[in-house]
Amino acid sequence: MSYQIAIDGPAGAGKSTVAKAVAKKLGYIYVDTGAMYRAMALYLLRSGTDAANAEEISRRSSEADITIAYENGAQQVILNGENVSALLRTEAVGNMASVSSANADVRQKLVELQRALAARENVVMDGRDIGTCVLPNANVKVYLTASAACRAKRRYDELEAKGEHCVLSEIEADIRERDERDMTRKISPLRQAEDAVLVDSSDMTVEEVVEKIVSLAECERQRGKGTDRG
Ligand code: DC
Repeated sequence: MSYQIAIDGPAGAGKSTVAKAVAKKLGYIYVDTGAMYRAMALYLLRSGTDAANAEEISRRSSEADITIAYENGAQQVILNGENVSALLRTEAVGNMASVSSANADVRQKLVELQRALAARENVVMDGRDIGTCVLPNANVKVYLTASAACRAKRRYDELEAKGEHCVLSEIEADIRERDERDMTRKISPLRQAEDAVLVDSSDMTVEEVVEKIVSLAECERQRGKGTDRG
């Protein structure tokens, strides 16, 4: 039986950094589900899909074959045979992903892929609905968050370090807008699963958060839970 660690939380909480490090420590694979939604968004953008037309999104999404591969432990996203991993982190793709991830057909297709991966490998999977929908019986569920101000400051520092000048208040406004959209959409909105452990990383280092999650997994193993997952 595979072992599953689910990490959900809002944009900018540090999920991917933490999830990657936890996966490395435990020797599990890291599954970045946001990248799958982004690959779908890339397909929709390339095919000129109208973001406001839900029917068109549903129809077009059936043409996109998305699979995952691993190269030196790093997740690669393959879209209709092309490795698109390097093309997913743009503003345009992020915005389309934010809209198209609210579509039921898009979600159904990608949730199937996520469940299939988790069924055959030990995973640390991050996203918005992993503990609530994708892996409801995960061994460990974490809801990783931080204050909007703190998430905005981290993003600001990241951009400044890359030489991109920006306005902190605008970044915080963007983050609050994305939170609102992710938390209020009809299908699989972002929320803390009832059995998830809340970790607020506002005043924690990455190492502290990683340690916390690894120790949750160790405690869970000792309790011997995980034998009755469906
Ligand atoms: O985490 P990210 O920024 O790469 O996610 C991109 C978009 O996909 C974001 O708007 C939220 C959405 N998403 C989702 O709806 N469900 C997931 N499990 C992961 C991401």
